[in-house]
Amino acid sequence: MARTVMVTGGGTGLGKAAALRFAREGDRVAICGRRTEVLEAASREIAAAGAEGVAIFTCDVRYDDDVAKMAAAVHERWGALDVLLANAAGNFVCPAEKLSPNGWKAVIEIVLNGTFFCCSAFGRKMIEAHAADGRGRSIVTVVADYAWAAGPGVIHSASAKAGVLALTRTLAVEWARHGIRANAVSPGPFRSEGTDKNLWLDETLAREIVESIPLRRYTTPAEVAESIAFLADESKAGYITGACLPVDGGHWLTGSHLGFLDAIARAAKP
Ligand code: COA
Repeated sequence: MARTVMVTGGGTGLGKAAALRFAREGDRVAICGRRTEVLEAASREIAAAGAEGVAIFTCDVRYDDDVAKMAAAVHERWGALDVLLANAAGNFVCPAEKLSPNGWKAVIEIVLNGTFFCCSAFGRKMIEAHAADGRGRSIVTVVADYAWAAGPGVIHSASAKAGVLALTRTLAVEWARHGIRANAVSPGPFRSEGTDKNLWLDETLAREIVESIPLRRYTTPAEVAESIAFLADESKAGYITGACLPVDGGHWLTGSHLGFLDAIARAAKP
């Protein structure tokens, strides 16, 4: 049966890979992001991949009123979500002592507040729907290994992702009685146009990062999307809640993020 899925930040990167993965199962897929033209291009790909329906929303998840309006519009069109993938994020490298209050706020607002606003707005409707139909539903969030370790060079994102992990585990307990499972994925380093511009600033650094990963390669968005699809699937992961699944080639086990994020911060020379 086709599910209703919302992917925040679904126009690019990991969000788009996950949206395409859900589309291949024939789900109804809504995506949101800040740039309409990017969403429109992604929506054509999602439709071509087999989605039963596609909806796009130009919405910045920092603004709770806009998120509430988006949740109401999705609900009116398709009813409550079966799956929320709270993926929207923003990040840049900046040593803590150089980070301005506005830089701190921008990332905390997008990553932590935005994730809560989406879980809250969509979650309320999922709770109502569960009271009526008793079906299981799922929230998946996206964190990083620096949510539980240290994130030198990205103190704002590390602090926000630690909050997202706590939020995920808390919802797993609070909303279990409403049939909602909440899990996180923690992708390892991956390469994209965006990361090459903002994070892995040259080939030497890109190589150093690969050498710090036990499986010696970058994660791909498609394989992280597979893990998201698994966690979201009631028939496969119906007894899994409050988990955080690293999809990182063993990267978090080495503690090497301490070294590589320091290297990134040095290379960025802001
Ligand atoms: N280094 C230092 N400070 C930075 C910065 C950087 N690379 N990028 C943004 N900031 C600061 C700005 O200077 C500003 O602070 P100020 O008013 O004290 O100068 C504050 O952050 C907000 O910047 P602004 O560009 O207005 O933010 P925004 O709200 O439009 O967007 C981001 C914030 C994080 C989304 C933006 O940095 C961005 O677009 N990043 C790249 C895309 C991205 O993050 N993709 C996801 C990767 S996970």
